[in-house]
Amino acid sequence: MSALLEVSGLAVAFGGVRAVRGVSFSVDEGQTLAIVGESGSGKSLSSLAVLGLLPAQARVAAGSVRWDGQDLLALEADELRRLRGEELAMIFQDPLSALNPALTVGYQVGEMYRRRRGFGREQAKRQAIEAMTEVGIPDAARRADAYPHEFSGGMRQRVMIAIALALRPRLLIADEPTTALDVTVQAQILRLLRRLQRDGLAMIIISHDLGVVARTAQSVVVMYAGQAVESGTVADVYPAPAHPYTLGLMAASPSARDGGRQVRPIDGYPPDLSSLPGGCTFHPRCPFARERCRTEEPTLRQVAPGRASACHYAEEVLARGAAVDHAGA
Ligand SMILES: Nc1ncnc2c1ncn2[C@@H]1O[C@H](COP(=O)(O)OP(=O)(O)OP(=O)(O)O)[C@@H](O)[C@H]1O
Ligand code: SF4
Ligand SMILES: [Mg+2]
Repeated sequence: MSALLEVSGLAVAFGGVRAVRGVSFSVDEGQTLAIVGESGSGKSLSSLAVLGLLPAQARVAAGSVRWDGQDLLALEADELRRLRGEELAMIFQDPLSALNPALTVGYQVGEMYRRRRGFGREQAKRQAIEAMTEVGIPDAARRADAYPHEFSGGMRQRVMIAIALALRPRLLIADEPTTALDVTVQAQILRLLRRLQRDGLAMIIISHDLGVVARTAQSVVVMYAGQAVESGTVADVYPAPAHPYTLGLMAASPSARDGGRQVRPIDGYPPDLSSLPGGCTFHPRCPFARERCRTEEPTLRQVAPGRASACHYAEEVLARGAAVDHAGA
């Protein structure tokens, strides 16, 4: 049986520079996939490509995107526009800039119903209030007349979710949905997303923080420099990563594990995409690197049932990751 969304070998290029280099993932109904990685790893571009919303200078250079069996990359622009909102929806990385400061929140939530459902102004407003209530905005009837700046960050994020869900899509892509929020509000938004998932919504949650998505996603794809370097279920990957970069992200995440262990950022910086290091692109930063890593590029390969890693020494990392964890290093 094929998944609801299947992305295979996706590549995105800006001129001659490939910012996404052959990424594959899939999402089933009622399932949540997390895409994690440092800034610039290609998380946003991968999901924008799925929705046909890449920046003008970028293009899909390779790969396929199948939605419910149909090839999204082959659709005409207006067919894809219809699917967006109706079936696939996205919450963009910068929620403040996505709302118009000059229009009331209720009017903006109602816009989907006016534009796509042909509702009149009053009917659209009633629907908007209902949608706002559904995502946990208290006193929505009154708040519908307020402007975005009168909302807290968490409430604005709820507004964005209400807009994204207005037409009852089957997939929601949430790009860093909690990054700008404090820990308590972050937990509330994640609870809301989990509730939506239980109602059958498929989701992709993008985050630079592995810990944020630990309790929401069932599967995870870890991206580095435009590639997937590890993938698997959250239950398998988190306790024992099979790629040194994932180990690094775990150590760098304030919320990835209990115990309040000190946060340790990964040494060095992600590479310049226009001059990638040879061999394994992670080798200049990798504590496991040896000679072979400088010359031979690892491919993403299966290392256990349902798990893949793009590391020459994945088996060793798996074993060591577990050992380091027990030592509490
Ligand atoms: N408009 C653009 N023009 C040129 N290059 C771009 C553009 N947008 C993205 N890129 C390149 O693609 C890379 C990946 O971008 P992307 O936005 O997908 O990263 P990301 O993983 O979402 O990062 P962040 O965590 O900062 O949101 C960037 O590092 C940059 O090199
Ligand atoms: S292939 Fe080598 S450099 Fe790359 S992640 Fe594995 S050990 Fe590190
Ligand atoms: Mg991004």
